[in-house]
Amino acid sequence: MRFLAIVPILCCTAALILSFLCLFAGHKPSFMTDYPIMTLNVSRLPEGLVNSTLESDSSPLSSLWDKVPSGIKDPIEGAANSVASSIGEELGIEDWYSAHLLDFCYGQYTPTESPNATISAGDIDKNVTGCSNQTAMFHFDPQQIIEDALNKSGTGITLDDLKWPEDIQTGLDTLRVVSVTAFVLYCIAIALIFIALVAALPALFAQGRLAACLNWMVGILAFLAIGLASALITALIVKGGNIVNEKGNPVGVEAHRGNKFLALTWAATGLMFITLLVWSFEICCGPHSRRAKKNTYSPAKHG
Ligand SMILES: *[C@@H]1O[C@H](CO)[C@@H](O)[C@H](O)[C@H]1NC(C)=O
Ligand SMILES: *[C@@H]1O[C@H](CO)[C@@H](O)[C@H](O)[C@H]1NC(C)=O
Ligand SMILES: *[C@@H]1O[C@H](CO)[C@@H](O)[C@H](O)[C@H]1NC(C)=O
Ligand SMILES: *[C@@H]1O[C@H](CO)[C@@H](O)[C@H](O)[C@H]1NC(C)=O
Ligand SMILES: *[C@@H]1O[C@H](CO)[C@@H](O)[C@H](O)[C@H]1NC(C)=O
Repeated sequence: MRFLAIVPILCCTAALILSFLCLFAGHKPSFMTDYPIMTLNVSRLPEGLVNSTLESDSSPLSSLWDKVPSGIKDPIEGAANSVASSIGEELGIEDWYSAHLLDFCYGQYTPTESPNATISAGDIDKNVTGCSNQTAMFHFDPQQIIEDALNKSGTGITLDDLKWPEDIQTGLDTLRVVSVTAFVLYCIAIALIFIALVAALPALFAQGRLAACLNWMVGILAFLAIGLASALITALIVKGGNIVNEKGNPVGVEAHRGNKFLALTWAATGLMFITLLVWSFEICCGPHSRRAKKNTYSPAKHG
C-alpha cells in the first residue's frame, strides 16, 4: 500500500470538480452565475441618450420620452440617472451582462444600480434574469447582444444613439483566439485530470518506480493544460477588462473582473501542482528506494 498516493487521488478529484465548475458555471440562471469571467455594467449606458436629449430637441428619444413616468421626468436636472434606468427598461437593455466560458447571463442590479447614501456598494446584488444558450467555442460579443436587445424592443434606437464605442468590440475581437483556446484547453485539462485520477488508483497498490513515473507524466500534462488555461483566462480578464474600461467608461460602461472564477481556476492549478510534487517525491524517495535499500541489506542479513 502506497499511502502517499491518496494525496494525488484527493487532489485530482478536487481539481476535476473545480475545472468542471469553471466550464459549467452560469450554464443556467440558478447555477453559479456569480462566477463569471467578466461582468459588464451597462446600467448607465442609456444615460448618454438622456443627456443628448436634454441638450437637443430633435433626438430619437422624443417618442420614448412620453413613456417615461412623469414622476421621474419632472426634476430633470440631477435625475438623469433614474430616467436612464427607466429608458433602459424601455429599450430592453439589462443592467449587466456577464460572460462565462459557454454562455452569457444578464439581469438587473437590486435594489439599485449605483450606491447612494443609504445603500452601499456591498449591498447591491445581481439579480439574474436569464442566460443565453450554451455554445462550445463561445465568444462574448456585447455589441451584438445590445444590438439584438435594441432591435427586439422596436423603439428604433440604435447603438449610435447610445454612443456605443465600436472600439470595445474591436478590442474584444482581438481576444477571440485567446477565449476559444482557453475553452479548448479546459476541455483537454478535464480529460487529462480524469486520466491522472484513474492512473493514481492502481499506483495506490503498485509500489514500483514505474507507476510513479507514469503518473508523473500524466500529471505534468494535466498541470500544463490547466495552468495554461488559467493563464490565458487571466490574460483575457485583465486585457479585456482594460479595453472595456478604457473605451467604455466615458459612456457609462464598466467591466468587473471575475475574481471568483480566477480563484476557482487557480485553485485547480494549485491542486495539480501538489499532485505533481507528490509524484516527484515518490520517484526520488518513494517506497521503491526503501525496498532497494532492503534488498541491498538482505544478503548481509542472510550471510
Ligand atoms: C450625463 O450628464 C451628467 C451630468 O452632466 C454627467 O455627470 C454624466 O457623466 C453624463 N453621462 C454620460 C453617459 O454621458
Ligand atoms: C455601474 O456603473 C456605474 C457607472 O458606470 C456606477 O456608477 C455604478 O456604481 C456601477 N454599479 C455597480 C453595481 O457596480
Ligand atoms: C438609495 O436608493 C434606494 C433605492 O433606489 C432608495 O430607496 C433610497 O431612497 C436612496 N437613498 C438616497 C439617500 O437617495
Ligand atoms: C429579481 O427579479 C425578479 C423578476 O425578474 C423579481 O421577481 C425578484 O423580486 C427580484 N429579486 C430581488 C432580490 O429583487
Ligand atoms: C435556445 O435553445 C432553445 C431550445 O433548446 C431554442 O428553442 C431557442 O431558440 C434557442 N435560443 C437561441 C437564441 O438560439
